Amino acid sequence: MRIGLLGFGVVGRGVYDITSARSDMQVAKVVCLEDISLPDAQVTKNFQDVLTDSTIDTVVEAMGGLHPAYEFVRAAIEAGKNVVTSNKALVATFYDELLPLAQSKGVLFRCTAAVGGGIGWLSELERARRVQSIHRVGGIMNGTCNYILDSMTRLGLTYEDALSQAQALGYAEANPSTDVDGIDTWHKLILSSNIGFSVSLDPQSVPAAGIRSIRAEDVASFKAHGFVCKLMATGKNQDGVISAYVQPTLFRQGEPEAAVPANYNLITLVGSASGRMSFYGQGAGRYPTAYNVVQDCADVLAGKGFYSPYGKKVSAVNADTLCYYVSGVQDAWLEENRQASWGSGIITKPVTVEAMHSWLQAHPDAFIAALPVNEN
Ligand code: HSE
Repeated sequence: MRIGLLGFGVVGRGVYDITSARSDMQVAKVVCLEDISLPDAQVTKNFQDVLTDSTIDTVVEAMGGLHPAYEFVRAAIEAGKNVVTSNKALVATFYDELLPLAQSKGVLFRCTAAVGGGIGWLSELERARRVQSIHRVGGIMNGTCNYILDSMTRLGLTYEDALSQAQALGYAEANPSTDVDGIDTWHKLILSSNIGFSVSLDPQSVPAAGIRSIRAEDVASFKAHGFVCKLMATGKNQDGVISAYVQPTLFRQGEPEAAVPANYNLITLVGSASGRMSFYGQGAGRYPTAYNVVQDCADVLAGKGFYSPYGKKVSAVNADTLCYYVSGVQDAWLEENRQASWGSGIITKPVTVEAMHSWLQAHPDAFIAALPVNEN
């Protein structure tokens, strides 16, 4: 396999390093806007150099972002090249279009590293759905947020210091708001739900709350009540009705999610035959993510195609009722729904996920965290 590698950042560099030690695949050209030189690969600033090189059979896209990644990947497929990508924004948005295009061109399109970094989550989800119905997908899907929340909880770091460390370690997306506002988790949840439930979710029907407004005081309140806060993705299929949302969620000490450290992810499916299966590993970082990209390249070499096409278009219905911790903002609706106070934060009576997220949209400076269902 001769690879045209797009991007030489955290993931691209990792792919180059891992493939350098292999005889069955070789990075032949690297598209990179920096002035770098490599001993055994040609470096270019021009994607056309990869596109028009007929000796390159596979394009690995590790640039991130929607544009120009989408245009480059589309052009590569149209030129008859296989594509492996770790770009969750790209696949969550354009999977519906790129997968059929790849099928019509007779090339392979894989994106295992788009969810869970080094965890073989999507590849196992695809296998799981072949022989059973998937009732639930989700979990801790963002290494940056987990790193921040874990550092605030265990080490007492401020939000800002924890975020800076996550960025320095190469976990965060180029724009950290993608991580801390829950957008990265949202992309991963939509992709996982679509593959697991065979649907094509309307992204606008999937709300996401992030961790940008969490304060040390909130973390101290959670600890005092025996809880740990994690950013959770929830996707459920109840007799064809899909609910899907991203939100900070409190876990009792001792639950598996509460113990997930640093940049690790814990991603779970519940299937009609298998019951709960959880996948644990580093969800971000150079070599974990590059590992899954190279796994995809090995699958392409073995002729293994990718996941099933999405199914029919549906909107998520988020009618679950939960109690929430809310801090940072007070208003009449919250007062009406208050059932308790934790420090300067309040605990709501049970409200629907939809109602809580609609309120949050109008109060973006607030921080919310759902209490566990059995605590409602
Ligand atoms: N920024 C992402 C994360 C990278 O922190 O999980 C891996 O998808």
